[in-house]
Amino acid sequence: MAVLSFSTALLKKINTKVMEEDLFKNQSNLNRFFDTSPLLRAVGDSVINLLKKDEYVVLKTKKMTASVPILTAFIKLFEPKLGRFIDHIERARIHDLPSCGGENYQHLTLHNDNAVDLTNQPKYVFIQIVQEDPNGRQYAQNGVVKIKDVVTDLKASNPQLLHQLLTKPVPMLSFGVTIDSKDKSEIVVSPTILSEDEKNQITVRFDYSRIQYFFSEKGIGEVPKQILTMIECFLTVCEKHKKSYYLEKGDILIMNNLTTLHDRSESTMELNEDGSLSTRQIMVGFIV
Ligand SMILES: [Fe+2]
Repeated sequence: MAVLSFSTALLKKINTKVMEEDLFKNQSNLNRFFDTSPLLRAVGDSVINLLKKDEYVVLKTKKMTASVPILTAFIKLFEPKLGRFIDHIERARIHDLPSCGGENYQHLTLHNDNAVDLTNQPKYVFIQIVQEDPNGRQYAQNGVVKIKDVVTDLKASNPQLLHQLLTKPVPMLSFGVTIDSKDKSEIVVSPTILSEDEKNQITVRFDYSRIQYFFSEKGIGEVPKQILTMIECFLTVCEKHKKSYYLEKGDILIMNNLTTLHDRSESTMELNEDGSLSTRQIMVGFIV
């Protein structure tokens, strides 16, 4: 587990500098400030070291401003070492109507992001909390599991299941890679859930909702028993090794998207007097 927090003095220094210089008005000035600030570079270096060891980091920022320009400048700090920032921040809020887009309030099963994208799946995901769940800490917790912990367990406890996960193709279907994708063409892929990369590292590609979508959309109905059993056993072992965190406003969860899976527990909604709903809101950015 890697939890890194900003000291109050560090946050004060960052906020003062950003406000003093009125850096919000210009993205490239803000990027330059982040890139040349020894303070922020130190934050970036610490996060990278922790990611190498632990594959994900919970960055407790003590309520650092959650804005698209600041998150953009923050992610760009990692470009030289981790990959290329997709110059787009997705904003997602919990909703009671799936047709409105965003995230459903129900529990989100363990998955990695853009699992149907075989060529350009993000290597790292940054999730920042814009607004916390209106009903507090027992809701909307983010869970993360490192796939190497699952593999180590399976080698000892169920090598047959490990073999299946490495060899059995499982179909997924999606119209567009993400809800924001302009191209809504049908995507059908059939990867194995686990695979071994060129450095002999086990990677994971899993999104159960896309697997279910394949079988319902193709008129097959339910997920076939053999695949369902494999997935249920896999998820049981994942749950054993999952750690959950409550992220506060401003906190940033940074994950290796190829070697971890993440989920989110049930979220809640608060009804306002004008009939609108207050819900958790997040921003998501990717490095490919
Ligand atoms: Fe996700």
